[in-house]
Amino acid sequence: MKKRVAVLGATGIVGQRFIELLADHPWFDLEFLMASERTAGKIYGESVTWILEKPIPRKAYEMELLPINIDLLVRGKVDIVFSALPSDVAKNIEPQLAERGIFVVSNASPMRLEPDIPLLNPEVNADHIEILEEQRRKRGWSGAVMKVPNCTTAIATLSLKPLVDEFGVGKIVIATMQALSGAGLTGVPSMFILDNIIPYIEGEEGKVESETLKILGEFKGNSIIPNSSIAVTSSCHRVMVLEGHMEAIFVELKSKASADEVVKVMEAFKGNKIKGMGLPTAPEKPIIVRREVNRPQPRLDRLEGRGMSVVVGRVREDRVLNGVKYVVLGHNTIRGAAGTGVLMAELLVKKGYV
Ligand SMILES: NC(=O)c1ccc[n+]([C@@H]2O[C@H](COP(=O)([O-])OP(=O)(O)OC[C@H]3O[C@@H](n4cnc5c(N)ncnc54)[C@H](OP(=O)(O)O)[C@@H]3O)[C@@H](O)[C@H]2O)c1
Repeated sequence: MKKRVAVLGATGIVGQRFIELLADHPWFDLEFLMASERTAGKIYGESVTWILEKPIPRKAYEMELLPINIDLLVRGKVDIVFSALPSDVAKNIEPQLAERGIFVVSNASPMRLEPDIPLLNPEVNADHIEILEEQRRKRGWSGAVMKVPNCTTAIATLSLKPLVDEFGVGKIVIATMQALSGAGLTGVPSMFILDNIIPYIEGEEGKVESETLKILGEFKGNSIIPNSSIAVTSSCHRVMVLEGHMEAIFVELKSKASADEVVKVMEAFKGNKIKGMGLPTAPEKPIIVRREVNRPQPRLDRLEGRGMSVVVGRVREDRVLNGVKYVVLGHNTIRGAAGTGVLMAELLVKKGYV
């Protein structure tokens, strides 16, 4: 039987991606679309500023946009809520939903670093989902909250995981070139970004540096222990690209490896933590490596694996860090947001939580 789901923040960029990914989903039925009072009461298709390539899915077009209503979601027997709400709104709503028995898969940043909250990039750390038992027991919730990582971090950790497992990793330096869609539908005015690069994204560097350690950490006993043998530093920049975050990553490797060996290990990575589970949104190849010197590029490569694969290129040895350097590209609103959220929900179902 299909699970009943809702999208909160349905009119925003991430909300639109959720609607696209859920339209023909074999396991989920989209029952409610909610957003702010500004758009509530209107027909979705008539009020949303739709920006995705494909048209609005037919069913969603006709649905009524509702204000956030927890009672209605409970009465409507919703199993999973996908939250694409701004942080300040999510912070209050999400715990209330979990308390009322709903499983929340959230893109908003509050609670991401709390030790009993799974911050999941399923191919990397699906086992961290086991912390939900402790979370529910400790907080007295019949539902639960799970967080999708920050978009830049989701893309980086997917590319780093095989290196951590195979060679061991010490220092990591990340410099990003991040797409405009990462700032939301009304995020960066054109007057600021045309012919320009903005060398600051509020809060982003801290998120990349702390979330990476949690995702690459270990689930032990009753909590998730961040990885203490890795150190991450980052510099984050907004560039004039619509979708697709590019990251230049420099990695210290604990055991020596050539560029060819690194490529081999990345290409062989199958996302072992969810391999063989048959999750519909899981890409066949989580990491695709390109040999051409001018790839990856956002326009050409962001939709690899239906936006769920990351594309690595320019893999070279790095003499300063005694390791390797490369460029990775990922689709920020799919791999970095809604796509990973749907994959997490599939994991919840597969594991029998809902
Ligand atoms: N964009 C990305 O690549 C990305 C990646 C990872 C995580 N995130 C996170 O995901 C969340 C959504 O991001 P976004 O880029 O989709 O933002 P967005 O385009 O600005 O959309 C925000 C959504 O929240 C709704 N909303 C605003 N205030 C509300 C309120 N008081 N009550 C209920 N709904 C309200 C808006 O509805 P109205 O249309 O009715 O105002 C809209 O649907 C944020 O927490 C963001 O940090 C974004």
